[in-house]
Amino acid sequence: MPEAVAPFAGTFARRLLAWFARAGRHDLPWQRKRTRYSVWVSEIMLQQTQVATVIPYFERFMARFPDVGTLAAAPIDEVLHLWSGLGYYARARNLHRAARSLRDRHRGEVPDQIAALVELPGIGRSTAAAILALACDVRHPILDGNVKRVLARWFGVAGHPASPKVVSELWSLSDAVTPADHAADYTQAIMDLGATVCRLRNPDCDHCPVRAGCVARASGRTAELPATRPARVRPQRQVVWLVLRAGDAVLLARRPPRGVWGGLWGFPEFPTRRLATGAVRRRAGPGPVRLEPLGLIRHAFTHFELEIEPLLYELDAGQGRAVPAAGETWYNLGDPPRVGLAAPVSALVARFAAAADPLRRL
Ligand code: ADE
Repeated sequence: MPEAVAPFAGTFARRLLAWFARAGRHDLPWQRKRTRYSVWVSEIMLQQTQVATVIPYFERFMARFPDVGTLAAAPIDEVLHLWSGLGYYARARNLHRAARSLRDRHRGEVPDQIAALVELPGIGRSTAAAILALACDVRHPILDGNVKRVLARWFGVAGHPASPKVVSELWSLSDAVTPADHAADYTQAIMDLGATVCRLRNPDCDHCPVRAGCVARASGRTAELPATRPARVRPQRQVVWLVLRAGDAVLLARRPPRGVWGGLWGFPEFPTRRLATGAVRRRAGPGPVRLEPLGLIRHAFTHFELEIEPLLYELDAGQGRAVPAAGETWYNLGDPPRVGLAAPVSALVARFAAAADPLRRL
């Protein structure tokens, strides 16, 4: 433990634990029957996603995949289906891959050692530590985004919290303030403090159990700590989606496994209108092709913004439904298959399904 920290460490944890007992969340679905599996699933869902959003997804996921074996045996489409709308789909693909690896190499058990956990796809050092602390009540310091913020403010650590030097300093501080016992409660408490009180914007210092001793608060620097990267201008990308409809079905294609919405199903995508029109011509035969614009959709990702131009083409009865190519399917609007859809695809499909006469009302 860094010497300068030692006198504060005990106070910090004690105050945090007292606050957690009084004001913390104790009845979340993943707190009820804690196993390494259930905590793992919840921790992956809670990355970059708020507790309130995660709850129904977690309940559905655990009902369908109650253990590693069931998850490993399931087709990826079904896993992505239950993840649809939660975002960051690499999390679901990694969870599924990790479950298969555990089935094949660990007899379906989630390991109880950090070193084995971090070998699994999607589990970093902090997530591994959180799984063991929360599920097994064993002391393991953690350092997720919330905890970085709490510690950077409390100890007044300047510098960007993604830089290796700052990360290493924050890990030492996390180790220093993590108490010897009450591992599960302490771990949940510090994450909750970051999520609900020591928020990125508008931290609620008046209700903070560790406001005494907080360097950022004492020096009026809660807005500056932790340091943020200068805002980047996100590059824009444009794509065209071809919404090919035949009666009560639309043609969907499975997206490549890597990249945006990897492994989910979506409308066939083209870089330009011209290429989309060409694809229709190949299916519908010669004659004029008029594509009906369904309105631009903008979707922001971490590193870029996507502008989607969905264009509708109705195949008439004579043109029929061609047999779908490999990786394509006719998605029946009245009897939808259980596959994962990218969020804007779900929204478009819902517009079709909601309208009795969709062409007139879109
Ligand atoms: N973020 C990641 N894990 C969390 C948890 N267990 N509780 C609240 N927020 C979290």
